[in-house]
Amino acid sequence: MSGPKTVTWVIDEHTHAKHEILRKYLQGWLPIMTTYNGKIVFIDGFAGPGEYTGGESGSPIIAIDTFLNHSYQKIRDKEVIFLFIEQDKARCEHLEMLLSNRAQKHLFPSKSTYHVLQGNFNATIDDLLTGIEDKQASLAPNTSHLRICNSSINVATHAQILPNDGLSLMRLSGLSEMY
Ligand SMILES: C[S@@+](CC[C@H](N)C(=O)[O-])C[C@H]1O[C@@H](n2cnc3c(N)ncnc32)[C@H](O)[C@@H]1O
Repeated sequence: MSGPKTVTWVIDEHTHAKHEILRKYLQGWLPIMTTYNGKIVFIDGFAGPGEYTGGESGSPIIAIDTFLNHSYQKIRDKEVIFLFIEQDKARCEHLEMLLSNRAQKHLFPSKSTYHVLQGNFNATIDDLLTGIEDKQASLAPNTSHLRICNSSINVATHAQILPNDGLSLMRLSGLSEMY
């Protein structure tokens, strides 16, 4: 698949529009989901480096900033886990650096965490979910909600381990497809 070869690149209009949708969606989604679930897992499957060459935020930073700056304070009391999957090592390192700057500047709520996982999305998510399956446990048990954005996961494979309504998908790589 062709794509930028550098760690960061110039943002395009399509991506701007996608980010606006993501920001607005999370503004609404976070309070609703934290009201009805004790634990939320947000997964960005094709995370990228977290910023563009002009300094614009990438999707992982938009998700984290929307959470940290949200006016609905109660979301800070819930366990909110961000998983960022990216296959390129240098982009993972760039994202780690941006996230660690955020962590130093803002006080992260004690229950919230983020993880940058380097690897192919399908293989990484498969490992994660298989590990959970093996342990007969759930990443997002009864009171949880798993949210995957930028993904093309084969949910059917793992549907049995996820609770009813425990998984929602938002495919942001093509604006015409949104789940
Ligand atoms: C369009 S960019 C990411 C943009 C980012 N989500 C944003 O909105 O700011 C896509 C990223 O996915 C990564 N990527 C491509 N194929 C991947 C795969 N199979 N698994 C994980 N990451 C992948 C690329 O290295 C690239 O950094």
